[in-house]
Amino acid sequence: MRLYSLRMTHEDFMRRAIDLAYLGQGLVSPNPMVGAVLVHQGSILGEGFHAGYGQVHAEVAALQTVSDAQRGLIPESTLYVSLEPCAHQGKQPPCANRIVAERIKKVVIATLDPYKEVQGRGLEILQQAGVAVEVGCMEQEARWLARRFFTVQERSRPYIILKWAQSAEGYFAPLSNARKQLSNAFSMELLHQWRRQEAAIMVGYKTALIDNPKLTNRSGSGLQPLRIVLDRTLALATTHHLMQDDAATWIINAKKEQPGLKYFKQADFGDKLLPNLLQDLKHHGHNSLIVEGGAQLLQAFIDGGLWDEARVIHTPVTLGKGLAAPLLKDAELMAQEHLDTDLLHVYQPSDRLISFVPGMRL
Ligand SMILES: NC(=O)c1ccc[n+]([C@@H]2O[C@H](COP(=O)([O-])OP(=O)(O)OC[C@H]3O[C@@H](n4cnc5c(N)ncnc54)[C@H](OP(=O)(O)O)[C@@H]3O)[C@@H](O)[C@H]2O)c1
Repeated sequence: MRLYSLRMTHEDFMRRAIDLAYLGQGLVSPNPMVGAVLVHQGSILGEGFHAGYGQVHAEVAALQTVSDAQRGLIPESTLYVSLEPCAHQGKQPPCANRIVAERIKKVVIATLDPYKEVQGRGLEILQQAGVAVEVGCMEQEARWLARRFFTVQERSRPYIILKWAQSAEGYFAPLSNARKQLSNAFSMELLHQWRRQEAAIMVGYKTALIDNPKLTNRSGSGLQPLRIVLDRTLALATTHHLMQDDAATWIINAKKEQPGLKYFKQADFGDKLLPNLLQDLKHHGHNSLIVEGGAQLLQAFIDGGLWDEARVIHTPVTLGKGLAAPLLKDAELMAQEHLDTDLLHVYQPSDRLISFVPGMRL
């Protein structure tokens, strides 16, 4: 018989830090989600996460939860943190300095921070102060957790998720230009969770016209993503759902600019449109975008190599004839999940995969 040890490992505590980090999902952009756990002799003394943009960082949140009676144990504890502690003064003071000031002797970091103000400097501060540091515990999971933030630092554009549903025959929509719901109720509920997680959401003109979507997060919690619609000639009626003030909206067009940015004029509606728009999003601190259709817009993102994740919902609905679904190129299937009668496939571009491991979530 094989006997299992009951002792908690580094991975167990880092898993807890990563789980905590996810509680900040949809609330911290353009910052990354980060979690931290402070452990003394196998017991958790304190734990915390970054809960909102401008709010305290995970390490400080964890320290704040230590009871007065246990504060004396802090210097004898190990801090587990999903991202390298910061080294710069931003909206909050540098966490690396706080860790040194608390005289914590050991820090386990899942992954280093690529942000230009940090990039190993947090690690340096700790090491120079004599703190024992271990880097790389559950690195893959931590990079996945912070993939939106990492993409902005490393690719200088927001993280892009493509999302669509398709019929059993691989059709995207009927040819009739009539609205047709393909996904089931379970998938639709999930979609609202996904909207809650992203900074911005985008559709093409025909989708806006035919489906008249609200593009709001109706998950019951979290923030509203910025809505973006391509409406080159400003043809959408003012009664349209996207024209109502349910959420901040950019109407990308070739005619008019309006202070307050509801109307966003783009001179170039050709190949440069999407790259220019992504730069505008980055400039305004939006670090992720979910593109919900239509097929033409999704294909333009694919053809431009402008995507990081595609979530394709295969439904049992049959259309007979229809508009072909977008065609992914150089894509690898990373995960699948049954959503009642629908089947979700998650793809990544083959040239920059973050491998899925058990426990990873969207
Ligand atoms: N199955 C699904 O998950 C799903 C999701 C959403 C929508 N739909 C369905 O899909 C259909 C609409 O899809 P669609 O492919 O026909 O249209 P679409 O992509 O929604 O809109 C196409 C229009 O958007 C503008 N556009 C798109 N990409 C552009 C780019 N890269 N640069 C500049 N302008 C761009 C162009 O407008 P201009 O020509 O004015 O320049 C183009 O004609 C509807 O039937 C809708 O119900 C299905």
